[in-house]
Amino acid sequence: MAKRIDVKDLNLYYGKFHAVDSVSLAVPPHSVTAFIGPSGCGKSTVLRSLNRMHEVIPGARAEGKVLLDGEDVYASSVDPVSVRRTIGMVFQRPNPFPTMSIRDNVVAGLKLAGERDKRKLDRVAEEALRGANLWAEVKDRLNRPGGGLSGGQQQRLCIARAIAVRPDVLLMDEPCSALDPISTLAIEDLIGELKKDYTIVIVTHNMQQAARVSDQTAFFNLAGVGQPGRLVEVDDTERIFSNPGQKATEDYISGRFG
Ligand SMILES: Nc1ncnc2c1ncn2[C@@H]1O[C@H](COP(=O)(O)OP(=O)(O)O)[C@@H](O)[C@H]1O
Ligand SMILES: [Mg+2]
Repeated sequence: MAKRIDVKDLNLYYGKFHAVDSVSLAVPPHSVTAFIGPSGCGKSTVLRSLNRMHEVIPGARAEGKVLLDGEDVYASSVDPVSVRRTIGMVFQRPNPFPTMSIRDNVVAGLKLAGERDKRKLDRVAEEALRGANLWAEVKDRLNRPGGGLSGGQQQRLCIARAIAVRPDVLLMDEPCSALDPISTLAIEDLIGELKKDYTIVIVTHNMQQAARVSDQTAFFNLAGVGQPGRLVEVDDTERIFSNPGQKATEDYISGRFG
């Protein structure tokens, strides 16, 4: 299997607390991988470690390897800022810059990197907004503030902002949990389209959503109170939801706990 991301023996800590134990998993290019599991089992922690956002938290550290196209993103020669450009992130609550215009929200990353060519910025903004399925709704109000959009539109604006810097991978941490059902479906459709161009890893507490949008599913669990979270199994989504290899997975997906 081709691997865009290859995680090997990854252990994650918050100070002395061992939050996640020895995760190994691979993510093929142009696919959607869903992380599921009960609250606190380390899904967000693993997700944030993939683009080195984990270590931004004081005291947090990672041990092990995360290979992106074969290169260890934790190698000492690697600049974490460039990792975060290649592996973008969309958060649970849409977080546009509320008073900044819709257009400037989308190109914020490029402007920060020094791009000043207005025509280029306009072109990138349009492309990214089209890519995020938002162009038709905002093309007549690009100079209005991002904070004036609905929640679902704001989340697509954040997706446009993430893809404007042309990442290879998009990480999404429960991107629909603050959205209504219609906006949720719009984001799910968009995820299906985005995987043509990007590799996507999504955390979701919604198992129907995992089943609908993902190609492979990773089930994380806690062995017990105070124990680190661990990856129970990762497999094709169809298999996880029809015939998982582990009893704990079956119990979780059939709603017996969590
Ligand atoms: N910033 C933090 N500082 C200390 N502990 C944290 C922090 N974030 C998460 N944790 C702990 O790490 C474990 C995994 O959390 P998290 O990755 O948020 O789980 P999930 O996303 O699966 O709900 C939990 O025990 C949580 O309390
Ligand atoms: Mg989480």
